[in-house]
Amino acid sequence: MSRFTDLRGRASVFAVGLLLSTAVVGLTGAMNAEAGTLSKVAFGKTPDGKTVDLYVLQNGRITVKISTYGAIITSIEVPDRDGKLDDVVLGFDDLTGYLGKHPYFGATVGRVANRVAKGKFTLNGHEYTLATNNGPNALHGGLKGFDKVVWKAEELESGDGPSVRLSYTSPDGEEGYPGNLSVSILFTVTADDKLKIEYAAETDKATPVNLSNHSYFNLGGKNSDTIRDHEITLNADRYTPVDDTLIPTGEIAPVADTPYDLRKPTVIGARIDRLQNEPRGFDHNFVLNNPDGKLTLAAHVYDPKSGRVLEVSTTEPGVQFYTGNFLDGTDKGKGGVAYKQHQAICLETQHFPDSINHPSFPNTVLEPGKKFSQTTVYTFSTR
Ligand code: GLA
Repeated sequence: MSRFTDLRGRASVFAVGLLLSTAVVGLTGAMNAEAGTLSKVAFGKTPDGKTVDLYVLQNGRITVKISTYGAIITSIEVPDRDGKLDDVVLGFDDLTGYLGKHPYFGATVGRVANRVAKGKFTLNGHEYTLATNNGPNALHGGLKGFDKVVWKAEELESGDGPSVRLSYTSPDGEEGYPGNLSVSILFTVTADDKLKIEYAAETDKATPVNLSNHSYFNLGGKNSDTIRDHEITLNADRYTPVDDTLIPTGEIAPVADTPYDLRKPTVIGARIDRLQNEPRGFDHNFVLNNPDGKLTLAAHVYDPKSGRVLEVSTTEPGVQFYTGNFLDGTDKGKGGVAYKQHQAICLETQHFPDSINHPSFPNTVLEPGKKFSQTTVYTFSTR
């Protein structure tokens, strides 16, 4: 059965319109493109002596840096409407920052992104127990998830631009999950200003798999301390309401007539002010209008000050839209800046939270002999 079962929905005119605009931006980018480059710099060592490298992927306009520790995107430099470059993701200046405790800045999250209720699930008659690292629940792969391991790297020149493939084999029983799971992630910076992430995985025992990237975007760049003035559009008619530990209730609710209706460009701060949750802000899984699992536009973000635009397309059925509600000044990031609440947004393309305990949600179980794949594309432009 397809991983994208029974969630039928009709792609809206919005999606078609924005897909067309993506294509136009892409063409413009391609015409101006210079040759891409790929380089590697030393990033440091883990406490147990493993070497960590930073891969730098460039296309002449945008530069993306990816660390082999955690398969973490440490930096994305893109021009504003005047051509001025700035880094649009939160993170740290050096490896030491990433080795410490932090809320998944830029990280690859897995084996199961998002929450598993009470850290428990039953598969093929066997109950599995995971560490609970988020109140009563398991979050983002556990105590030592994919964000905290060193990945093997392979440099590639794909037809699309400079690429690096990161691979990791998660052993049977790691963090409580069944089966040896081999994962590879191909990061590519294309000539038309896209950062493409293609995930693949195979297992030798049935296991839940849900892979995502946890980049925190602020399109205003390093000195912009809020995303309240950014405008967001999500291609989602429905969302999954949650309990007070952020576990879905199981309901798939329409966004119409609720503050979760982000189908038209919406100023994020004003909309956050209509929410009641604490800490205040969005931290919800939206059900994308993407019934066939084809690469489809999920989100469009615009920063009116810099003119930067980010579009996110994905093959996944959901996106966790998170507005950095838990940032509270304790994480000191790039340039020593203390990251504040609502300083960034995450658009974590994924299967729905706690899917393994909700048979009515799209399936996250990967069986031996089957291939897991997910593709997410971030397109940068200006207006
Ligand atoms: C995800 C979760 C949030 C929070 C962040 C990390 O986005 O949904 O609740 O845990 O990760 O701080």
